[in-house]
This record gives sequence, structure tokens and C-alpha cells, in this order.
Amino acid sequence: MMEGSEDGTAICPGSYDPVTNGHLYTIRRAARVFRRVVVGVVNQPVRKQDTLFSADERKQFIEEAIEGLDNVIVEVFDTLLVEFAHKHNASVIVKGLRAISDFEYEFEMNQLNRKLDPGIESVYLMSSPEFSFLSSSGVKEMAAFGGDTRDLVPVRVAERLKEQYSR
Ligand code: PNS
Repeated sequence: MMEGSEDGTAICPGSYDPVTNGHLYTIRRAARVFRRVVVGVVNQPVRKQDTLFSADERKQFIEEAIEGLDNVIVEVFDTLLVEFAHKHNASVIVKGLRAISDFEYEFEMNQLNRKLDPGIESVYLMSSPEFSFLSSSGVKEMAAFGGDTRDLVPVRVAERLKEQYSR
């Protein structure tokens, strides 16, 4: 193991607006590989676009869905990701990669994070085919037009999406 990673903690960061079954699968897989996983829900002070759900609710959705996974915790953060990793003594960031279209964005993020702290390594879990085209924005779009999202997100999230868009 690399220096600094003895703790065996990995960070799974994201906006999770809202969490999807694809995210949850990545978190579960990370929890099998690492001793401890901290899911970081970003609450960006300057956000390109507002989130549909508050950071607390986004956190709650994940907590409900991962109940029983003893080595996973969920926390909101509003700092640089590398600072959040330091706070938890983690030297690994885990992200899910879906299609090739994710690659360019993730590559850029990787370079920025590497610049900020070369000691933190990012690793990527390839998504399984059923989640390859599942995204929070796609789910929101579906819900906005009255589509049923129950197969794509936890039941509670599907209910809340329906509420949000029926107003
Ligand atoms: O689910 P997302 O929106 O792809 O997640 C993006 C996330 C949370 C990983 C990214 O926005 C992030 O790391 N934000 C914290 C600020 C930061 O450290 N940015 C990257 C280096 S400038």
C-alpha cells in the first residue's frame, strides 16, 4: 500500500442530486475493496446550477439506502475534495466510470486533484452495463416529465422526485 493509505479509507465523492442505483452500486463495491468508505456529498458554495435537493436530504437518501453497510459513512463537505480526504485520513478517491463520455471530465478532475495533492490517488470502478446510461440529471429529466423512476433510484428518492415535480 502507498504511504498514507494505511488507514484503508476511500472517499466516494459526488453531488448525488439525487443518488441513483448506479451510485449505490459503486459505493457497495468500494465498501468491499476498502476497509472504510466515506461518501462525500458536496455542498458547493458557488454552484454552477442549484441542486434539486438540499445537501442534508441528499445525504439522508444515501444513508437510508446503505443501511446495514457498517463500514460506510456519509458526510456533507464544502471544501476542496483533497481537503475532505485529508480530514478523513484517506489517500484514495473512488469514482464510477460509465461511458467514454465520462472520461474527459474525470481526467480533468484527476489532473486538478493531482495538482492539489499528488499523494491522493483516484481509482475508477467501471460501471456495470445496466447502469451505464444512468445519471442523476437523466433521472430528474424523466421525473420532470412524469416518468416513473422507481427502477433507477431508491423508492424514497422516487417518491420525493415525484413530489418535487408535481408542484
Ligand atoms: O457527482 P459530480 O457532480 O460529478 O461530483 C463532482 C465532485 C463532487 C467530485 C467535484 O465537484 C468536487 O470534487 N468538488 C469539490 C471541489 C473540488 O475539490 N474540485 C476539484 C478540484 S478543483
